[in-house]
Amino acid sequence: MYDYSTLDPGKLEYISVAGIDEIENGERLFVDIDDIPLVIFNIAGDFFAIQDECTHDHESLGDGELQGFRVTCPRHGAEFDVRNGKACTLPAVIDVPAYPTRIIAGKIEVGLPLDT
Ligand code: FES
Repeated sequence: MYDYSTLDPGKLEYISVAGIDEIENGERLFVDIDDIPLVIFNIAGDFFAIQDECTHDHESLGDGELQGFRVTCPRHGAEFDVRNGKACTLPAVIDVPAYPTRIIAGKIEVGLPLDT
């Protein structure tokens, strides 16, 4: 539903957020783009960006524990797949927006839909 990582690249605007050496493996980075709070995870050298707001009751997801590709909301324990934003467990039933990333000249870029 909100998995922008599959959107046509022509409908995205890529914005540079950090150098690849600024997020170590297993770590995360918080950024705001156009008032959208995002958290970007480095999992084994691949970068995944989701909105940093749980769809259950607005908690920051980036503060949650990461296991594999799942992050656990620290408030009530819902799990989300950081690759596509899918809500995997209750109490969340709505997916969180997921955004594509790419690496250009050593910088991590996040793609945002042009109409947001
Ligand atoms: S606020 Fe995230 S599970 Fe409730």
